[in-house]
Amino acid sequence: MERIAIASDHAGRELKEDLKEFLKVLGAEVMDMGVNNDTAVDYPDYGSPLAEKVSNGEVPKGILVCGTGIGMSILANKFKGVRAALVNDVYTARMAKEHNDANILVIGGRIAGKGLAREMTRAWLEAKFEGGRHQRRLDKITEIEKRNNKK
Ligand code: RB5
Repeated sequence: MERIAIASDHAGRELKEDLKEFLKVLGAEVMDMGVNNDTAVDYPDYGSPLAEKVSNGEVPKGILVCGTGIGMSILANKFKGVRAALVNDVYTARMAKEHNDANILVIGGRIAGKGLAREMTRAWLEAKFEGGRHQRRLDKITEIEKRNNKK
């Protein structure tokens, strides 16, 4: 399995640690990008370095965890080429890959239990992007991204 980066703020740290172990069991090479203690931090400080690595192709995919997952998903989607999907159920996690080719999975550490978070992660990792009409839609998003970056 390919390399996968993972990061969280303090509110997502416990879940991040559990997912890290799960990813290793699945055979992934995990890059832990913090946070590594329970002191309150600002999620952009931990989400940005990961989103940057996905954006520039250094790692193919990543997982971000904060309290609700909302802050990390807003942040990650500011980075060029990042498609971050906040998921709260297994169906959405699978669709995030099949239809949206999400390269960052975002989970709320105060929302999802460890069992659900593991299953959502597995569903996203095992799913395959369907391409076709979904690629056409992603191409439209890429065009919008390019247009907006010129402004
Ligand atoms: C931290 O309290 C919390 O606001 C943060 O983890 C996240 O949920 C933000 O969206």
